[in-house]
Amino acid sequence: MAKTFRVGLIGYKFMGRAHSNAWRQAPKFFDLKANIEMHTICGRDAAAVQAARAKLGWQFAATDWREVVESPLIDIVDIGTPTFTHAEIAIAALKNGKHVLLEKPMGRDLKECEAIFAAAKKSKCVHMIGHNYRRIPAIALAKRMMTEGALGKIYHFRARYAQDRLADPEFPVDWRLQKETSGSGVHSDINSHIIDLARYLVGEFTDVCGIVHTFIPERPRGDLLAKGKRQLGKVTAPDSAAFIGWMEGGVMANLEATRYALGRRNHIEIEINGSKGSIYFDFEDMNKLKFYNGDDPKDRQGFRDILVTQRDGVQPYVANWWPPGHGLGYEHTFVHAVADFVNACADGKPVQPTFEDGLKNQRVLTAVEESSAKGKWVKV
Ligand SMILES: NC(=O)c1ccc[n+]([C@@H]2O[C@H](COP(=O)([O-])OP(=O)(O)OC[C@H]3O[C@@H](n4cnc5c(N)ncnc54)[C@H](O)[C@@H]3O)[C@@H](O)[C@H]2O)c1
Repeated sequence: MAKTFRVGLIGYKFMGRAHSNAWRQAPKFFDLKANIEMHTICGRDAAAVQAARAKLGWQFAATDWREVVESPLIDIVDIGTPTFTHAEIAIAALKNGKHVLLEKPMGRDLKECEAIFAAAKKSKCVHMIGHNYRRIPAIALAKRMMTEGALGKIYHFRARYAQDRLADPEFPVDWRLQKETSGSGVHSDINSHIIDLARYLVGEFTDVCGIVHTFIPERPRGDLLAKGKRQLGKVTAPDSAAFIGWMEGGVMANLEATRYALGRRNHIEIEINGSKGSIYFDFEDMNKLKFYNGDDPKDRQGFRDILVTQRDGVQPYVANWWPPGHGLGYEHTFVHAVADFVNACADGKPVQPTFEDGLKNQRVLTAVEESSAKGKWVKV
């Protein structure tokens, strides 16, 4: 008989909704190696978490995360809370023998990430960071093509994660823009995603040179706006960042994270150039991967669009969904992550990206901040 994993989810807002959907859908679309019970959802506001429980499909609600991580009824703890809570909750969950799915960025700084990874190494638990973009079918296909050498020797990795919501100076300051709650603001929030994709697709960073910056140092306080008052609060974390770097094998890297790119809503753009070809991806057109094959006959060379929706099992993940051309969205990336995570828990095997990946990611984030502060190149 297949094992049943009882899941406890901490946090019920943005990621809480995305993860609840994934826990609901994964067993319906994938043949998992274990059953899932959506056991407990946790948040601090009793009425709000009860409402979330009913709406998102959980059996029980809790108002203290300790109840969840200490409960003998729970096998998997899924953490979708602000970054400043990650280390405490993840370490407690691991100490209590729970498998842990932890949202990115892993922690606020290197010290927290090292402590989380040390707790994971001490445990026998399976651990995964919520870098869901690895599991976009087009990105998973790009990974396969890179592994097969379709691009030859890699020269350039370029990525830009651009949104535009901070371009409005009235957009409130919340936990994401405070150093003590977010770690390093937009830098750790969204640069961490493209650093993860760089490491996944190409390899490790060795040296970086970067700038982190705060364009608008004061914004209306979100907590007071909710009460009908307007008072400015300080933005204490970077709201944009960019860096260049060297990766192993002599790959030149160029990454940028901003929320000031008017017209860009969730533009995750990646281009990789190699001796035999190039690939290009844009999340806002996420069902496609563009591929330039340098071996094509000269008279018909050009980027081709690969529509990554084939159902015959040749393209990653899509066989479990709809007929070709029917398209997947943001939410499917979380379903894929949960499906892979549950199978890894059933097998007791690691699943990428692990907490070691989270720690290596943080080393790059920290090196970029140090480079910006010192105005010089820093080794990762
Ligand atoms: N993978 C992605 O694409 C992605 C996207 C957005 C956010 N994230 C990450 O997910 C995490 C959560 O972000 P979000 O956007 O969902 O934030 P959010 O502010 O929308 O929601 C945070 C949730 O955590 C709860 N919470 C806060 N402190 C808590 C505590 N002490 N105990 C219990 N619950 C608590 C809040 O009540 C809320 O339900 C962050 O680490 C963020 O970086 C990942």
